[in-house]
Amino acid sequence: MAHRGASGDVPEHTLAAYRKAIEDGADALECDVRLTADGHLVCVHDRRVNRTSNGRGAVSALELAELAELDFGSWKAGQGVQHGKDPYESPDSEDSERTSVLTLERLLQLVADAERPVGLAIETKHPTRWAGQVEERLLQLLDHYRLRTPVRIMSFSARSLHRVQAAAPQLPTVYLMQLLLPRLRDGRLPPDVRIAGPSIRILRAHPEYVERAHRAGHEVHVWTVDAPADVDLCARLGVDAVITNRPQRVREQLAAW
Ligand code: G3P
Ligand code: CA
Repeated sequence: MAHRGASGDVPEHTLAAYRKAIEDGADALECDVRLTADGHLVCVHDRRVNRTSNGRGAVSALELAELAELDFGSWKAGQGVQHGKDPYESPDSEDSERTSVLTLERLLQLVADAERPVGLAIETKHPTRWAGQVEERLLQLLDHYRLRTPVRIMSFSARSLHRVQAAAPQLPTVYLMQLLLPRLRDGRLPPDVRIAGPSIRILRAHPEYVERAHRAGHEVHVWTVDAPADVDLCARLGVDAVITNRPQRVREQLAAW
């Protein structure tokens, strides 16, 4: 699964990053969603836009029209990501796909129009502050698009996943874990959660976790798996999915298994 799109090569969470992930053979696209001040879900990882755009401020304090004025691509140009364009040329639609804020709606449309089946893994961010509004809007959009490919909802918040399960029990949920808390070490998950989402650090420290989660009846989806040694570790342990910034390279490496 492509983490924020093919974000190792193209600015994260842009339409161009997701198009590249599809070209690179990703089975699914991962994205983070946040609510704007006027109630749109946009694909942005951080609480603020400061790191990934030329603007400042919290996503939740900005309206979609204000976010649309910002450049979400050029920050990455100095980090080895090539635009391949003369910076003095007037912007065209290809440029705008590398620099514009991406709404979840546009991403759903991309998946709906894709020439081959591509799944989605959508992560709810800041779900506590908005007390259910993120999940509600997300489910409305999914209901509208009715994608035929697998969609999973991920979160570090069990409460957010519980809201999703209560409203849409058919949607698989993924419980993201940064640390393996003692109460989760036996492989069991909070009620209603179907899939375990440990970080790669957890697997390095607790490789036995995969077998335990499998024994408890859960798939294991691991993030963020870029280093070749980590890809090998996941393959050796039999994890069910890896989330990576470099889908093409990981796919090539996994083909050898
Ligand atoms: O796929 C899960 C992973 O994306 C969680 O971490 O910080 O990249 O959203 P983060
Ligand atoms: Ca994420």
